[in-house]
Amino acid sequence: MAEDPRAWWRHGVLYQVYPRSFADSNGDGVGDLVGLTRHLDHLQWLGVRGFWSSPITPSPNFDWGYDVVDYTGVDPALGTLADAETMIASATARGLKVILDLVPNHTSTQHPWFLESRSSRDSPKRDWYVWQDAKPDGSLPNNWQSSFIGPAWRFDEIAGQYYLSNFLPEQADLNWWNPEVRAEFERILRFWFDLGVAGFRIDVAHMLVKDRELRDNPPATDDDPFIEQLHGQRQQYNANRPEVHEIYRRWRVIADSYDPPRLLIGETPVWKPTILASYYGEGDELDLAFNFILLETPFDADAMHEVIETTLAALPQGWQAVWAGGNHDVSRFPTRWAGNSPTRARAALLMLLTLPGTPFLYAGDEILMTDTAVPPDRLRDPIGVQLYPMPFGRDPERTPMQWSAEPGAGFTDPGVEPWLPFGDLAVNVAAQRDDPGSALTLTRDLIGLREAIVDLHAGGYGRVDGPAGWWCYRRGERVVVAINLTGTAGVLGGVHGLLRISTDRSRDGEVLDGDLALEPDEAAIIWLDA
Ligand code: GLC
Repeated sequence: MAEDPRAWWRHGVLYQVYPRSFADSNGDGVGDLVGLTRHLDHLQWLGVRGFWSSPITPSPNFDWGYDVVDYTGVDPALGTLADAETMIASATARGLKVILDLVPNHTSTQHPWFLESRSSRDSPKRDWYVWQDAKPDGSLPNNWQSSFIGPAWRFDEIAGQYYLSNFLPEQADLNWWNPEVRAEFERILRFWFDLGVAGFRIDVAHMLVKDRELRDNPPATDDDPFIEQLHGQRQQYNANRPEVHEIYRRWRVIADSYDPPRLLIGETPVWKPTILASYYGEGDELDLAFNFILLETPFDADAMHEVIETTLAALPQGWQAVWAGGNHDVSRFPTRWAGNSPTRARAALLMLLTLPGTPFLYAGDEILMTDTAVPPDRLRDPIGVQLYPMPFGRDPERTPMQWSAEPGAGFTDPGVEPWLPFGDLAVNVAAQRDDPGSALTLTRDLIGLREAIVDLHAGGYGRVDGPAGWWCYRRGERVVVAINLTGTAGVLGGVHGLLRISTDRSRDGEVLDGDLALEPDEAAIIWLDA
């Protein structure tokens, strides 16, 4: 029987590459597409089914690729379009799918569209962006705050008006009410799908459409998520607008017109499972919407269980969640969830790879890279620079992949200064690759087990009672995952089966006849007797 053409993301594990930090082939200290292509064997060996790369399109790099100047090109620092085609062909030959990053909410202010748009009120592209005059009293068009820092309106001298800019001043929001903008992005989707790209991760997918009347956001209340309280307002009119769903329904039709159907996955930092679920529509919008609720939840049994349960309950029947432990915007999970404890980080890894839904690993997770402290003179993230010394920058999770402990870390040539400093090179792929007890081997074995056992990749989820502070859950009929998140050893009773994988690998294969004892921060996958 032919495999479901969506099995690669429904059953498999996916991986995120931050291309500037993955592998540098030309000795300039910046990762590139040739370097990435040379390391596809690592992904194949790991057993992931594909990878999402953060933007590869040309950018002046105020926001490192998320300020795009050409949606169908390749940034010269990363390579050429031919390199991208080679990467796609090499990945495809290895059975790996390539997912690119699409940034439709905003362009760089250096994008030719914006240059044209600002040039005159009569410009044919004027309406491609959101231009407004000040209010009669001279104040800003409305009270919206940028998702980064300060008000979301910037005055442009050339245009003589304010433009909407929900991120950096160098990023201008597109006007998604304009049908030409919509048509242009449909063309862009097709351009890359035609080249063999398997799908898109859609940047700030919840924000594209803004309130047509640009109404003021209401103040945040104590019940609102932390981030909205930080900005002092609830994102009622500049995010999660009902009209955004029309766009995804249209994109779904385009993605499904390809064989195999292409994947649409949203970056959806929303804080209620019901809102998250709305991006799946009735199964006719995005295939997957990243769950940021879990990312912001502490590694605590009750708290995490609640996120999983409420998320699954909210999703349309037959559709599934997508989980990540981190990404290029969020502290790495071995630091955030595990306080840099390798033992606890292994438990988090086992958790991530046994959750119901599609797990994404972020490059470096497989060796349990932690956040790297980046000295102030090496900061590259604009948020990190502006808010220094407050720890809000994103450089700590963006440092280069640690392939080996050699000079250059296998990332770049010896003696070359990488674009961001290296972390602790004792943690590296080469050292872990042949070590049966390593995090890397654990990751590979967990992926292999997940692929092999239907209960793990497709079975339901339900919490199982366990000792206080443990998180125990059933996957499908015969799998139980037990995680001892406490600081003391304990025992889960009534377990009859085979311990398939423990974070303490010396226990793999243990026969359990009643009691499962776990050390602090130990986690295990049990195959129950029939
Ligand atoms: C997304 C990206 C982030 C970027 C922002 C603005 O959140 O993941 O890196 O800064 O969008 O484009």
